[in-house]
Amino acid sequence: MSAEKVHIFDTTLRDGEQVPGCKLNKNEKIEVALKLEELGVDIIEAGFPVSSPGDFESVSELSKIIKNATVCGLTRAVENDIKVAGEALIHAVRPRIHTGIGTSDSHILHKFKSTQDKVLERAVAAVKYAKTFVEDVEFYAEDAGRTGDEFLARICEAVVKAGATVLNIPDTTGYCLPEEYAAKIGYLRDNVNGIHKAILSTHCHNDLGMATANSIAGVQFGARQIECTINGVGERAGNTSLEEVVMIINQRFKGQYTTGINTKMLSYMSGLVSERMGMIVQPNKAIVGANAFAHSSGIHQDGVIKERSTYEIMDPLDVGVDHSSIVLTARSGRAAIAYRAKQIGYDLTKEELDIAYDHFLDLADKLKQVEDKDLEQLLKSKIYKIAS
Ligand code: KIV
Ligand code: ZN
Repeated sequence: MSAEKVHIFDTTLRDGEQVPGCKLNKNEKIEVALKLEELGVDIIEAGFPVSSPGDFESVSELSKIIKNATVCGLTRAVENDIKVAGEALIHAVRPRIHTGIGTSDSHILHKFKSTQDKVLERAVAAVKYAKTFVEDVEFYAEDAGRTGDEFLARICEAVVKAGATVLNIPDTTGYCLPEEYAAKIGYLRDNVNGIHKAILSTHCHNDLGMATANSIAGVQFGARQIECTINGVGERAGNTSLEEVVMIINQRFKGQYTTGINTKMLSYMSGLVSERMGMIVQPNKAIVGANAFAHSSGIHQDGVIKERSTYEIMDPLDVGVDHSSIVLTARSGRAAIAYRAKQIGYDLTKEELDIAYDHFLDLADKLKQVEDKDLEQLLKSKIYKIAS
């Protein structure tokens, strides 16, 4: 049986760009979008065209230059939003309008001061209107994570009947537990008439640190599209991290699910987005953090030097990092010193290593990390007696 495709919907340029201070100008958006296309994402959410003339222009420009990926524009369930998005997407080879409305009680009662029936009517009207501009219409049920399953199924069924091709089930507030989110997706898969005509999509926020787990749980229960961003950027605590879900699918679901992502570009993409958005990546970030393939304790270093897979569950080359690193700290052991000394040109005998190690520990207790230049200095002054 061949692996089932999970579509990767990248929203770095829309949900990601909503982060305060992360706004990109048109040229930066073009640069990132072209690289996203090369990375192999299936859909690029390019922006929210009605929100500003600049965003309209960016979506319109990306529609002209992106040829392989679907280009998507966000709207509210508001006629003018949809009309403007339709205009911005006019040149796209594969245009998609992403329209929707809040469906939880708190959205319906507090935001809209409305009723479920009226919200359902607006959702259907929005999808029908969007269909007059493009064939591919994705519907989002904002705050689906806190929406009762029965109403969610009713609104999903109605919008599929109106022509929605994708059903986005956002955990907008990052509140769901993985089993709750999985059950919600499973309920929709099993209870929405006509569900086979649409793709179920996850869109999980990270307020409790569960965005990645929830997205994968959604896939296991029937979702075939994941909405995510590079480095997990997005509103508040962020969105699902693209690099994490893609590598989970690659490492844990081989043969069952597949994506079209060229994983060797992941590290590069992380650096590009971090740089352009001015948002640093935490060093311990999974997959793309500076320490994701760095080993610093003696026990781990010894294991990894003998056999990489002892402490690495994936090959750094697969995500575009040329090698794992052995970081020298006061917790490092002899194996790491010998290894790093060899890397900088010193093949130490056992006696030399014993001497180097004693001096190394004194030095390492004073420094946070011993760099190559510190090690070289130590070897030259304590063993080789060559003036530096
Ligand atoms: O988090 C959310 O609900 C969203 C929607 C607008 C799709 O970003
Ligand atoms: Zn979102």
